[in-house]
Amino acid sequence: MNRPVLEGLRLNVPAYVHHARLVAWVAEVAALTEAADVCWCDGSAAEYERLCGQLVAAGTMMKLNPELRPNSYLARSDAGDVARVEDRTFICSQRKEDAGPTNNWMAPDEMRSLLQTGEEALFRGTMKGRTLYVVPFSMGPLGSHISHIGVELTDSPYVVISMRTMTRMGRGALEVLGSEGAFVPCVHTVGAPLQPGQKDVAWPCNATKYIVHYPETREIWSYGSGYGGNALLGKKCFALRIASTMGRDHGWLAEHMLILGVTSPAGKKYHVAAAFPSACGKTNFSMLVPPAGYTGWKVTTIGDDIAWIKPHDDGRLYAINPEAGYFGVAPGTNDHTNPNCMASLKRDVVFTNVALTDDGDVWWEGMTETPPAHLVDWQGRDWTPAIAKETGAKAAHPNSRFTVAATNNPVLDPEWDNPAGVAIDAFIFGGRRSTTVPLVTEARSWADGVYMAATMGSETTAAMAGGNGAVRRDPFAMLPFTGYNMADYFQHWLDLGQRIAASGARQPGIYCVNWFRKGADGKFVWPGYGENMRVLEWMIGRLEGRAGGADNVFGTSPRYEDLRWDGLAFSRDQYASVIGIDRAAWQQELALHAELFKTLEYHLPAELPAVRARIEERLGA
Ligand code: GTP
Ligand code: SPV
Ligand code: MN
Repeated sequence: MNRPVLEGLRLNVPAYVHHARLVAWVAEVAALTEAADVCWCDGSAAEYERLCGQLVAAGTMMKLNPELRPNSYLARSDAGDVARVEDRTFICSQRKEDAGPTNNWMAPDEMRSLLQTGEEALFRGTMKGRTLYVVPFSMGPLGSHISHIGVELTDSPYVVISMRTMTRMGRGALEVLGSEGAFVPCVHTVGAPLQPGQKDVAWPCNATKYIVHYPETREIWSYGSGYGGNALLGKKCFALRIASTMGRDHGWLAEHMLILGVTSPAGKKYHVAAAFPSACGKTNFSMLVPPAGYTGWKVTTIGDDIAWIKPHDDGRLYAINPEAGYFGVAPGTNDHTNPNCMASLKRDVVFTNVALTDDGDVWWEGMTETPPAHLVDWQGRDWTPAIAKETGAKAAHPNSRFTVAATNNPVLDPEWDNPAGVAIDAFIFGGRRSTTVPLVTEARSWADGVYMAATMGSETTAAMAGGNGAVRRDPFAMLPFTGYNMADYFQHWLDLGQRIAASGARQPGIYCVNWFRKGADGKFVWPGYGENMRVLEWMIGRLEGRAGGADNVFGTSPRYEDLRWDGLAFSRDQYASVIGIDRAAWQQELALHAELFKTLEYHLPAELPAVRARIEERLGA
């Protein structure tokens, strides 16, 4: 194989690399970005340790107290680089209609000129003084027919170590690729070239940010951010935006869903996939601990954020988790809300933007009821409860996160790595709504379920830059993640339902939930977390044809007596306040559905306005 050498730059291609097209592409990007060096990542523990050491020396991370938190680190980002940037995220399809009205769009040629080809293109010289890391990874088990390979070129060692935890990264992925295999090229830069002699900052990034997807050529180019989904390109960029377009073309689904297994005392196991918007409860639900009184019930985690779902010959839908780790929200996580998560975080974790305790451990809002008397906050400043009271300053950023391998999870499902995936029995869709949306409703039909998911609203959270709690429509929890026209995506879901029905297999049940209704005191009424098991058990009961319910304008919801209340004091009145349907509020809500449909008019499946009309009729009756 021809091993090119750029003027003044050695590509350092290891002998085990046999993919000429990959090498040529690396050479091209190294030349464009003027990287000072090229490093091919093998995914080994030694490499991980070496890069962590380098990040500590650079001041990006610090090592936590090994007695309290073995093999763990705290990273602090730039204060302006703390979340996904939806307004800087682009879908550059040839036709604007294919990106649709819910995505930012630019013509591919125009974007390429801005990023790559123009005289002042942002990627020109962007890696000066930095190393270009070649990061091969598999989304999904190595070699699974459901999996896909990507290669990320990045100048951020923090991204490299995160990708090792979040994906199957390294030599194994290259072996699957062989000499001809297909991969999704992902180019990432923090956008902070270093001039000779210039001292680096702890978290290099750029105020200008572009998170760019070319769905037709299946490419990702990300500029200016080092944080989360902006930079770990296997996650939202590949596994959702690009994969959703692959799924549209080849008859499968890429979804913003956790996947869990739930086993009843009778030993019967079901698999449930649930879509909640960012920071609305997926990680928590995927690791749920059933409350006292649920002896013999067990919940196990297959995935906590993303599901790739494919129909098989038996007509059923099989899901895999394309990821290998969790990049989860820290605030609110504690031994009561999510004990399995706390156990996962005992060691081998990279925390980002949480607070540091005086004995070298981590803390975040909600970890303990009483905060420590003194902390160093996520920006490196002194923090005390008194300061917080006066200024409102949070010790941990609301979107502070942990990065940890799935294998640290004590309730990891034995099937989590199964290349064949698990058969899905039910889908759940849930938003964060302080009012209006009931605790749980079962859809009467696939089309009604698609309608519920399509019209879902949710209050925005700190997972997106600018998230402020305002309600917005977030269809299928995929508003920021669908790589093509949302109306076409609805049609794809409807088509899939038809296909399952035609095969003679049973369609998964579809449920809509809301854990977040608030009372007059502004507090959540429903206790949530482990208590969500009561709702999950009802769903299983419905699948088995045992559990009762009452019909309403949307579908079927449990009456008070249809849920199990052992061990929980929750009155009929309290229940009424989380399950009730307020006619006036729903009239307003339906107006918002109509507004969404107006926006998505082009290609909107006729079934959806038809479902809306039926609901409106029932509501008026
Ligand atoms: P992303 O990683 O951004 O996709 O988030 P996620 O959907 O995995 O959300 P996660 O489980 O991390 O929860 C986000 C926040 O919601 C945390 O602060 C949780 O404590 C809180 N939360 C999760 N489940 C519940 C619940 O059942 N009730 C209430 N009140 N809060 C919850
Ligand atoms: C989300 O925002 O839905 C996340 C975090 O899971 S990120 O990886 O930053 O997208
Ligand atoms: Mn997510």
